[in-house]
Amino acid sequence: MKAIVAVDKNWAIGCKGQLLDHIPEDLKYFKTMTFEKVVVMGRETFESLPGRKPLKDRINIVLTTRKDFSETDVVVCHSSDELFEKLNSYPKEDIFIIGGEAVYTQLLPFCTEAYITKINKEYEADKYFPNLDRNESWEQVSSSEAHYHNDIEFFFTKYINKEVRG
Ligand SMILES: NC(=O)c1ccc[n+]([C@@H]2O[C@H](COP(=O)([O-])OP(=O)(O)OC[C@H]3O[C@@H](n4cnc5c(N)ncnc54)[C@H](OP(=O)(O)O)[C@@H]3O)[C@@H](O)[C@H]2O)c1
Repeated sequence: MKAIVAVDKNWAIGCKGQLLDHIPEDLKYFKTMTFEKVVVMGRETFESLPGRKPLKDRINIVLTTRKDFSETDVVVCHSSDELFEKLNSYPKEDIFIIGGEAVYTQLLPFCTEAYITKINKEYEADKYFPNLDRNESWEQVSSSEAHYHNDIEFFFTKYINKEVRG
């Protein structure tokens, strides 16, 4: 499985239940990368989706402990064990962990790759992704050239987990 995320200079990912910014080119990149794939998210991230609707053209899996949580076109898992059981039905390379902080933290050790959009800016934030530059298991293997949205500079990078093989 793989993680995909947009982080700022401090590896922040969210504030008050929302993304830090809306960068159209990054949202398009996310859509392209996850198109017709399986996306795994926490209940808080699901609640933050536009219109509180599952992402189109993808299998949406939501983690929650709430037994009464039920949504159209959403696969619900109530624990990590239930999630791993469910994920056995899909090719590993098609599974993307899409957040938020609680879910990234738990599932990152099982990911082989992480697609990290690095935004060269500091935002007010209350949610973070683990800093992979300080984690010896992870290595950055590529970065795009600089992209810009207005005056915001960002890069599409890829990290691999040296501890986990696909
Ligand atoms: N920058 C990015 O790329 C990006 C991507 C995604 C999200 N975000 C941001 O991240 C923030 C949300 O992160 P978050 O940490 O607050 O929430 P989250 O990870 O989206 O969801 C947390 C919830 O998921 C459920 N959950 C997590 N692990 C579980 C497990 N093992 N078993 C059962 N349920 C489990 C629980 O739901 P219940 O409380 O229902 O039990 C928990 O409260 C938002 O600001 C969002 O915008 C940023």
